[in-house]
Amino acid sequence: MKALRDWNTEDADQYLKSLGLDTGVRQISSAGDGNMNCTQRIVLSNEKSYILKQSSDFCEKYPEVPAPITRLKEEVLFYDLARVNPKLKDVTPNKISFDEKNFLFLMEDLGQGKDFSSLYSGDRISQVDLKAIASILSEIHNTKISKDVVFDNHEMRKLNHAHMYDIPLQAENGLILDEITPGLNDLKDMLVKNSDYTQRVKELGEMYLASGDCLVHGDYYPNSWLKCDEKIFIIDPEFGFQGVKEFDIGVAIAHLYLSDHDEEIVDLFMENYQGDFDKLLSLQFAGVEIMRRILGYAQLPIKKDLENLKNLFELSMKLVIV
Ligand SMILES: Nc1ncnc2c1ncn2[C@@H]1O[C@H](COP(=O)(O)OP(=O)(O)OP(=O)(O)O)[C@@H](O)[C@H]1O
Ligand SMILES: [Mg+2]
Repeated sequence: MKALRDWNTEDADQYLKSLGLDTGVRQISSAGDGNMNCTQRIVLSNEKSYILKQSSDFCEKYPEVPAPITRLKEEVLFYDLARVNPKLKDVTPNKISFDEKNFLFLMEDLGQGKDFSSLYSGDRISQVDLKAIASILSEIHNTKISKDVVFDNHEMRKLNHAHMYDIPLQAENGLILDEITPGLNDLKDMLVKNSDYTQRVKELGEMYLASGDCLVHGDYYPNSWLKCDEKIFIIDPEFGFQGVKEFDIGVAIAHLYLSDHDEEIVDLFMENYQGDFDKLLSLQFAGVEIMRRILGYAQLPIKKDLENLKNLFELSMKLVIV
């Protein structure tokens, strides 16, 4: 079968037909920005539409970078587990079909929405949206999972672990930080030389990899929050797993800081999370996420001068070392 990125309207028609769905595709085009996978919107002449996502054994935007092809299966498993909870059924896309052989996931089109990546360029999150994002996260974590389910997502967690807890603090990792921001390499040295910091990062990495009971989204940051017609949806759980919920809480908090939101917004996020959580641990995970988004490969579309970065590093230290 042709790779999804090469499909034309006839290929999409054939595919829908094979599933017994309506045909008459008038358009197949990118569903929106993404790095890891190929995600297409299929629109029919009767105005029905679908989202079709395919994983391959490399990153779609960076074909030289390998990635576990099974990630789409893990994404589907997350939705299967999450959508047992009616509140999550309402805020995630419905699965229409998953072709395990070709790694093709056909899902409901939630609409031509907008993710929250504009927060990095100065947009401020509204209190209503923030409350929804906190509340949905607690629903994810509070979703009951049957005892016999194993949602380990080992390959993706291993990959993420390397990019969060390992590579960013390595002496030689192939990244030339001073090309990103002159002086950044010296800032990195400040962190690397602090053994309390590096030791705690290592321990947090082990906690991230440990098994647990909670359903975790695994990538709960602005690009996974989609707003369509004033309603918030959660997508892209390919890094999901069962484990420590504070990881998700920490990642979300980190991105509020990285997008220059005030402390009150971080507090409001935590206040609107329903249920118990370890605040200190969440903030430690936040500290690591802040660091890896500055020193690691997964750079954000943010322009920050050295002074801003220094402040974020100090924040990361304050959060991680307690
Ligand atoms: N069910 C959906 N309904 C509407 N739009 C969607 C849906 N799923 C994905 N999209 C759009 O497609 C974009 C890419 O999807 P997604 O984030 O799942 O891809 P990805 O390749 O895994 O991204 P990344 O590289 O960030 O991991 C989203 O930002 C969103 O705009
Ligand atoms: Mg993704």
